[in-house]
Amino acid sequence: MCGIVGYVGSRDAASLIYEGLERLEYRGYDSAGLAVISNGRIEVRRDAGKISSLRALLQTSPVEGTIGVGHTRWATHGKPCARNAHPQLGSTGEVAVVHNGIIENYLELQKELAEQGVQFKSETDTEIIVQLVERHLAQGFSLSEAARRVIARLEGAHAIVLISAKEPDRLVVARLGYGGGVTIGIGDGEMFLASDIPAILNHTRQMVFLEPGQYAVIQRDKLEVHLLNGESIPVKVQTVEWESGSADKGTYDHYTLKEINEQPYTIASTIGGRVDFTAGQIRLPELNLTPEKAARIKRIIITACGTAAHAGMVGKILIERIARLPVEVDIASEFRYREPIVDEDTAVIAISQSGETADTLAAMAEARKRKAILWGIVNAIGSQAMRMADGCIPMKAGPEIGVASTKAYIAPLVDLYMLAVLLAEMRGNLEPAQRMTLVRNLYTLPDLVSECVARQSDVQSVAPLLKDIEHCLFMGRGIQMPTAYEGALKLKEISYIHAEGYPAGEMKHGPIALIDREMPVVAIVTRDPWYEKMIGQVEQVKARGGLIIAVATDGDERIPEIADEILWVPDIPWMLSPVTAIIPLQLLAYQTALLRGADVDQPRNLAKSVTVE
Ligand code: M6R
Repeated sequence: MCGIVGYVGSRDAASLIYEGLERLEYRGYDSAGLAVISNGRIEVRRDAGKISSLRALLQTSPVEGTIGVGHTRWATHGKPCARNAHPQLGSTGEVAVVHNGIIENYLELQKELAEQGVQFKSETDTEIIVQLVERHLAQGFSLSEAARRVIARLEGAHAIVLISAKEPDRLVVARLGYGGGVTIGIGDGEMFLASDIPAILNHTRQMVFLEPGQYAVIQRDKLEVHLLNGESIPVKVQTVEWESGSADKGTYDHYTLKEINEQPYTIASTIGGRVDFTAGQIRLPELNLTPEKAARIKRIIITACGTAAHAGMVGKILIERIARLPVEVDIASEFRYREPIVDEDTAVIAISQSGETADTLAAMAEARKRKAILWGIVNAIGSQAMRMADGCIPMKAGPEIGVASTKAYIAPLVDLYMLAVLLAEMRGNLEPAQRMTLVRNLYTLPDLVSECVARQSDVQSVAPLLKDIEHCLFMGRGIQMPTAYEGALKLKEISYIHAEGYPAGEMKHGPIALIDREMPVVAIVTRDPWYEKMIGQVEQVKARGGLIIAVATDGDERIPEIADEILWVPDIPWMLSPVTAIIPLQLLAYQTALLRGADVDQPRNLAKSVTVE
């Protein structure tokens, strides 16, 4: 939830850390700070608000040094203010800590320290870590040993980085549980660390991903990784292939707009190398799926949160239709606590952009415990979800920085489509001609997505209708029901308009009572097997005086007679229609948020990766 950056080397630590934090600001933007060891002392600069406040502080009060840590915060304990910003110092000022996570036994540890006379300077749970570490240092332990002993006492999931003025050549970083990730970047005579790859991708591609229950001691030319019992383990270096430029905003005003515009490339990369259009074959090598395994599967559970869960709902329809396997979609935060019925013949598919969403990881752990086949559809390379899964479909969307997920929504739609075809083929459920058609349907998809992205001016004329409203209803049926959910989520999270997605057939069971001209209804009425039913539902809204904005297929002659406004999408085989139908709704949310002056990339109260429960 928070973003962490660290550096040790020979260059100016503050500017490198600041630059990394800017790339991680999507993870939290309540406050930001950094600590650098400068002339044998720890110098801290931190302030409430966005990272630009930290920049101003560094300009008026620069800090020199070649080792340091930084943090951008999403507040959990203690209000967002400078005092509660990280890094946190202890009583001596000789140790600094940055932390991502929630210390679940915080009250107990706080009481213990208070009884020993500790005067806390902040309202954070994090300060406990540094206070405890200082006590161990006072007993003669090294920084890494003190950290190891303290970490062993913390409950919950955490990423923690410590520096000490007494050992000014090293960072000590630990990861506990499935909280935030820790990536260590190996440079030439310098080392980086960050919560997420984009923060350090422009410096190195040689990365080490810390697993839960590991800690590392990082010096400029040496890296040691240990288990929490102190045992040293081999360092596993991986090469990350993302382009560093893909994490930049480029010429766009917002990451969100950039990422919406990148979607044709997302689809091209998603399909690229995986589809043989001549043979009509799908290849998903990282999934490790064999015909024997495919035949064994009796049911599938898709588990995810937010936008990723909406993608899973589309996947349910695709897999059931194409592969004829029963599929359930389970919100990860519910799945983990429900004693789910899962066995070795169940395939559990976790979908996650970040690969570090705490609820999704916990659901994966639950599935693993119950011996399910565990797959991930994950964007962040090397993330925990990718590493936990038995097999994976890497999303290939590249870094997604905007808090509102856009390209990481459409990528899994196509991944799930390909998975459905592959499963069907391996299970012998698909005639070769059917398979050929399904596979070839993918051929024009990047162009069709490109066409949708190009229709931004259509949306510009509709967004003013939403500018001053308070509520909005999205309705869809069948394969477009998740589009309604996702369209509503986009609008609510970036424009702060209350929006609800609803299965259109349910309107008459309650929500239709809300219809008036003050609450627009966005209806997804594309050419698909539910089209006639949707037309009926839109008519019902119209009959009650509702204001209708329709997403409809080019050439539809009935919709213009009913809808007030239409966002047209190109004709496309219906099973792929959610990929294109969501694009005008992403743009609508974006344009509306702009008109309302909202902070599109960093909506209030949200963070990109939810690494806490
Ligand atoms: O990283 P994940 O895909 O696991 O994240 C899941 C949700 O937190 C995420 O989709 C969230 O709902 C987005 N803000 C939606 O735009």
